[in-house]
Amino acid sequence: MVLGCVRQLLVTGMVAPSVFIGNMFVHLSGDPALAALLRADPSRIPAAVEEFLRLYGPYRGMARTAREDVVLGGRLIKAGEPIALVYTSANRDERVFPDGETFQLDRPNLTRHLAFGGGVHTCPGAPLARIMLITTLAEALARTSAFEVSGETKMASWAEWGTNSVPMRFTAAAR
Ligand code: HEM
Repeated sequence: MVLGCVRQLLVTGMVAPSVFIGNMFVHLSGDPALAALLRADPSRIPAAVEEFLRLYGPYRGMARTAREDVVLGGRLIKAGEPIALVYTSANRDERVFPDGETFQLDRPNLTRHLAFGGGVHTCPGAPLARIMLITTLAEALARTSAFEVSGETKMASWAEWGTNSVPMRFTAAAR
């Protein structure tokens, strides 16, 4: 149990942020206007990270087993049945996030996404991850005047959703 907990902390703590950071940089490379906006006003970086988490959360979903009969969305799930919770789909649910496929910095319900899961197994690393992701993006924007994807992007196959490798070209900011 102890080894499992330590392994879980190390593996998810390393893999999820690196996959997600690649996802953020691919998006920003294709949207230099957004990168410029965030460079000009770094106070909006936390909101941008939150919207990136909604759009590009690296975990597609998790499995659960129903403990009792329950009706969800008009469908009966019986006790003992396995269920796949597809967070990436929920995060683009148009009933919750109108125009869910697009990046919007000013969503009123910006933090309602499920990139960190939900319930008793909600990601315990979420506060640390948010600090890490905001700091990474803030530093990268502050130290550059531009950046772009400079080669072939490689995607993770399973269980993460997103990039494994993103070659980038950075232009240093004038001092
Ligand atoms: C981009 C960053 C991260 C994302 C998107 C993320 C996302 C998730 C998700 C979706 C889950 C499953 C929640 C569920 O079952 O409903 C999870 C679980 C977990 N995460 Fe993270 N995570 C991130 C970073 C981290 C970091 C930095 C750590 C540790 C330092 C960490 C440690 C864990 C652990 C230990 C669990 C298992 C919790 C449990 O099963 O009770 N995660 N994470």
